[in-house]
Amino acid sequence: MDYQILKPERFGNVEVLTISRPEALNALNSAFFSELNTYIDDIIANEPFRVLVITGAGKAFVAGADIAEMVDMNPSEAKGFSEKGQQSFMRLEELPIPVIAAVNGYALGGGCELAMACDMRLGSTKAVFGLPEVGLGLIPGYAGTQRLTRLTSLGNALKCIMSGDPFSAEEAYRLGLVQQLCEPDMLMEDALSLARKIAKRGPKAIRKVKEVIRKGRHLSFNQAMDLEKEKFSQLFEDEAKEGMKAFLEKRKPDWSNN
Ligand code: CAA
Repeated sequence: MDYQILKPERFGNVEVLTISRPEALNALNSAFFSELNTYIDDIIANEPFRVLVITGAGKAFVAGADIAEMVDMNPSEAKGFSEKGQQSFMRLEELPIPVIAAVNGYALGGGCELAMACDMRLGSTKAVFGLPEVGLGLIPGYAGTQRLTRLTSLGNALKCIMSGDPFSAEEAYRLGLVQQLCEPDMLMEDALSLARKIAKRGPKAIRKVKEVIRKGRHLSFNQAMDLEKEKFSQLFEDEAKEGMKAFLEKRKPDWSNN
C-alpha cells in the first residue's frame, strides 16, 4: 500500500510509523484516518511485526484534528467525524501487539488523544501536551475526555480540559501520562530500545499481558482474576514450556515456533 501521510519503517521485529504532514503539523484529516484504518487492517491480517512505535515528522507529534476540515461541518457531520476518530483510535488501542507513542513535539487535541490510545508514551523533554479544544469552542472528540480521566484522575482531567492550557513533558510525566522522559535526540533510540526489549519477550505472553490488563479494567476484580488465570494457563500449551525449559537449560528461549 502506498501511503501519503503514514511512513512505516521496519527495524527487525519492530515498526516505526511516522505521521508525516509537517506543513499542517501532522493535523489529523480524513485521509489520515483512512490510511490508519488500512494500516491497522494489515497488522491484524498479517501480524508482520511485534511492536509498533508511532511518532510525528518535524516539530509536532500531531497538533490535533484538522481544524480546516472541521470548520464548516454541521452537527451531523461533526458526529461522524468524532465517531470515525473514536473508532479508529479504539482499533489502535485494541491491536493485539503493544503500541508505543514516541512524542517528539506538539501533542495537542487529537494528537494527545492519539498518544493516549497507545499503550505507553515516551516524551521528548521538548514535547508539549494539551487538550486545547475549549479554546476553539469544542470539546475533545476522540475519547480524550475518557482516556485522560482514566490515565490521570478526575480532577487532573477536568483541570487540563477546562483550562485548555498546554503542559510540558515533565508535567505529563508527573501526571502519569508519560512513562519515560527522553532527551530530544535520544527519543527514537530510547523508543526503539524499549520496543526491541518487549519484542524479545515471549510474544504470546506480551499479547496476553495487553489483553488481560486492558480487558481487566472493564471487569470486576474477580472476573479479571479469572481472565488472568485463563490466559496464564493457555501459555502452558507451548510458549511457557519453551521459556521455562530455556531457563533451566541456561539458554536463550527460541520463540520462533510461537
Ligand atoms: N489543524 C489544521 N491545521 C493546523 C493545525 C490543526 N490542528 N495545527 C496547526 N496547523 C497548521 C497551521 O494552520 C499552519 O498552517 P499555515 O502554514 O498554512 O498557516 C501550520 O500548521 C503551522 O502552524 P502554526 O503556524 O500555527 O505553527 P506555530 O509553531 O506558530 O504554532 C501550534 C504551533 C501552537 C501547535 C499551533 O499550530 C496551534 O495552536 N495549533 C492548533 C492546536 C489545536 O488547537 N489543536 C486541537 C484541534 S481540535 C481537536 O483536536 C478536536 C478533537 O479532539 C477531535
